[in-house]
Amino acid sequence: MLQNSSKKIDLKCTSCGTITPYSQLLSECPNCGAKILQAEYNLDLLSQSDWQQQISTREANLWRYRELLPVLDPKNIVSLGEGYTPLTRARRLGEKMGLKNLYLKDERQGPTGSFKDRQASVAISVMKERGIKELVLASTGNVAIAYSAYAARAGIKLWVFFPKLVPAEKIREAAVCGAEIIKIDGTYDEAKAAAADFAQSKNLFLDAGIKTFAGVESMKTMAFEIAEQLQWQSPDWYFQGVSGGMGPIGVAKGFEELAAIGLADLVPAIGLIQSAGCAPMVNAFKNRQPKATPVENPQTAIATLATGNPGRAYELLYDILQENGGAMEVATDEEAYEMTRLLATTEGISVEPATAVTFAGLMKLARSGWIEPDEVVVVNCSGHTYPVEEKIISNW
Ligand SMILES: Cc1ncc(COP(=O)(O)O)c(C=O)c1O
Ligand SMILES: [Zn+2]
Repeated sequence: MLQNSSKKIDLKCTSCGTITPYSQLLSECPNCGAKILQAEYNLDLLSQSDWQQQISTREANLWRYRELLPVLDPKNIVSLGEGYTPLTRARRLGEKMGLKNLYLKDERQGPTGSFKDRQASVAISVMKERGIKELVLASTGNVAIAYSAYAARAGIKLWVFFPKLVPAEKIREAAVCGAEIIKIDGTYDEAKAAAADFAQSKNLFLDAGIKTFAGVESMKTMAFEIAEQLQWQSPDWYFQGVSGGMGPIGVAKGFEELAAIGLADLVPAIGLIQSAGCAPMVNAFKNRQPKATPVENPQTAIATLATGNPGRAYELLYDILQENGGAMEVATDEEAYEMTRLLATTEGISVEPATAVTFAGLMKLARSGWIEPDEVVVVNCSGHTYPVEEKIISNW
């Protein structure tokens, strides 16, 4: 059993492979300057059977996997009970799609209603451990809502830059917990640039999403939970609506770690869906390009998925899909709104359009034979409708 006192974490550069022992929050690789670093743990120190047994006795939240999360002292954990969300069978919707083993990972049940609660809990805990008192980020809504709750709980001041498209309801949710709000008259990529300039000019810590290693670490807990909930089996597919790519990169890393410990047999094929009006990843993937061409002016009302330039995250996903299999597909905003209704009326699950996009893309792939009827398919129900219900119903 790996004890916290012996926990040793390295940061590995995803470009050149340089390993730096983790003792501070690096913003880039000291060797090549690349921005995406990933945490590595000494997995040999974890005994499979002991760990499996320990986990089963712990509380139902994502910190039950704390040996593989990047917080050194548990007293720095900032938690609102996130993670260990239900994995439920969707028989009625599965029938409509021709899928016999369709499961929903109900991430709406996080403390602020989306899977970004995982990211907020792990990233804010890491920041607390590193003594960060003030934090800047750009968000299309859910990250800001989650971070504002966790930052309040940790006593960290938060500045959020929102792009133009974000609905007022979501901005209000973030403001309620005391975040400072700055609305940019531009795209999400422009809001990210503004946040980075602001952080630099005020010498404040910038949470750069996928480039902040704690985010990817948080997402891998979905893999741990899915495997545990399937009695330590991997599903055949993991599906998600994708924007910056943090979720699926984390999930793939989680299954890799489980396979290394002997708790999973494989990394599932990854199914990624984007809104047709902002689909840089899908477009590149369908053309077999290892690099994505940015979308300068996203044409979608689904602000949550409006990353026009996925940069290096797409390259990492391209490699992951080449290695483990997978598919990418688009769905239009209209198909997403239709799917919001179908999911709600067949399964009682009401999701935001960014999540419904996933089901709309999955339905296309299932009907075109990409997925075998018996395969086990897990879909990330990434966010709840509640901040935007009015908008959704007016589109039905
Ligand atoms: C509800 C919801 N679904 C999907 C995504 C896309 O997540 P990723 O960062 O993994 O691309 C987001 C991103 O904020 C989201 O809030
Ligand atoms: Zn490097």
